[in-house]
Amino acid sequence: MRAVSACIVLLITTGTASIGPAGQPSAAGVEQGRRIYETRCLDCHGPQGRGDGVKAPFLSPRPGNLVSAATAAKSDKDLLNVIANGRPRTAMPAWKDQLSEEEQRLVLRYIRSLVRFHHPLTPPPPEP
Ligand code: HEC
Repeated sequence: MRAVSACIVLLITTGTASIGPAGQPSAAGVEQGRRIYETRCLDCHGPQGRGDGVKAPFLSPRPGNLVSAATAAKSDKDLLNVIANGRPRTAMPAWKDQLSEEEQRLVLRYIRSLVRFHHPLTPPPPEP
């Protein structure tokens, strides 16, 4: 199981590295965030942030789908608050003692990059 998800991660990350969005200035920061994400968050939130990590089936409620429109629409402030303090009555741990504020921001930036990469958020404008 672990080997499989490691493979998937490898595929995704090598893929992202070669075809990453052109001209994104924060590539290095996203890379740092990715490393934090993969060590701390991936087991629950899954390789693409969809809430399907290896631990997810054993958790209730399930880990958030971080690339959902609902999460993407939340402000940095709200999400940083969940990352720092955890979410009561769920398995989401508080990270403020383990990650610096800078690291928390980097990991959030990585999560945002997953959203942009996999799910373009802006729907086409409605027909007039
Ligand atoms: C032990 C499993 C676990 C780990 C590890 C974990 N999470 Fe979570 N996470 C959860 C659960 C469970 C929720 C709550 C889902 C809900 O509210 O229904 C959650 C919620 C969140 C949310 C809120 C999403 C929203 O829409 O409000 C964010 C952001 C988040 N996690 C980020 C992270 C980050 C970043 C890390 C790593 C630094 C991480 N999580 C590690 C289980 C985990």
